Amino acid sequence: MSDTIILQCQQLTKHFQQGDLDVEVLKGVDLSINAGECVAIMGASGSGKSTLLHLLGGLEKPTQGKVILDGENINKISASRVSQLRNQSLGFIYQFHHLLGEFSILENVAMSVLIGGASVKVAIEKASKLLDRVGLGHRIQHKPGELSGGERQRAAVARALINRPKCILADEPTGNLDSKTAEQIYQLMLELNQELHVSFLVVTHNQSLAHRMDRVLQMEDGMIVTDD
Ligand SMILES: Nc1ncnc2c1ncn2[C@@H]1O[C@H](COP(=O)(O)OP(=O)(O)OP(=O)(O)O)[C@@H](O)[C@H]1O
Ligand SMILES: [Mg+2]
Repeated sequence: MSDTIILQCQQLTKHFQQGDLDVEVLKGVDLSINAGECVAIMGASGSGKSTLLHLLGGLEKPTQGKVILDGENINKISASRVSQLRNQSLGFIYQFHHLLGEFSILENVAMSVLIGGASVKVAIEKASKLLDRVGLGHRIQHKPGELSGGERQRAAVARALINRPKCILADEPTGNLDSKTAEQIYQLMLELNQELHVSFLVVTHNQSLAHRMDRVLQMEDGMIVTDD
């Protein structure tokens, strides 16, 4: 495995103001994700996992500390450069698929290729190919509401990968699925990791799925307490 660092944070802290209260949600997190690495994050509800992912994805600003994405300190660059870098380098998968209900899954997946400036033909070709790879070749004209939960998450995986990001940030991507379907989605993510050399950072409450990744980080009360 290459040891090029794709995504890193150093002494990351995040405070939220709740009325008069200052709540420290992240308390100095250090983390590095290498190219092609699959890392799981586990931890109790409220320990700060989603907050960490938001900060790593540049969706929120840290109170202190830095996030380095693909070699750039995202706290030191303009908001437009952050979104550009995020679009180029990261993909996101959430617990809820967040596909747009009025569009087919082909359109959903092709959309960000179009936004990136490609022609309709190229976008459709790329999206069809990837949807085929995730096992949805026979469903591309269907709308999300016409798919099963597992199929919708497969489409969400395809959407996250369509611009060939270096790292996917996934927040409980199988949290809504039964265990057999969750297992299939994990299997798919691990295969795509091997095929595309894309890194995965996945928050999960499922211990057995977490231990199929290269490393498991344990979060407790805003800190990473174990890394094995
Ligand atoms: N915008 C916000 N304002 C105030 N507090 C927040 C905000 N976002 C998160 N928090 C608090 O930060 C803590 C960590 O939240 P976070 O969503 O990161 O937890 P989590 O580990 O993802 O939990 P879960 O497993 O339930 O998804 C919680 O106590 C939460 O209430
Ligand atoms: Mg969460």
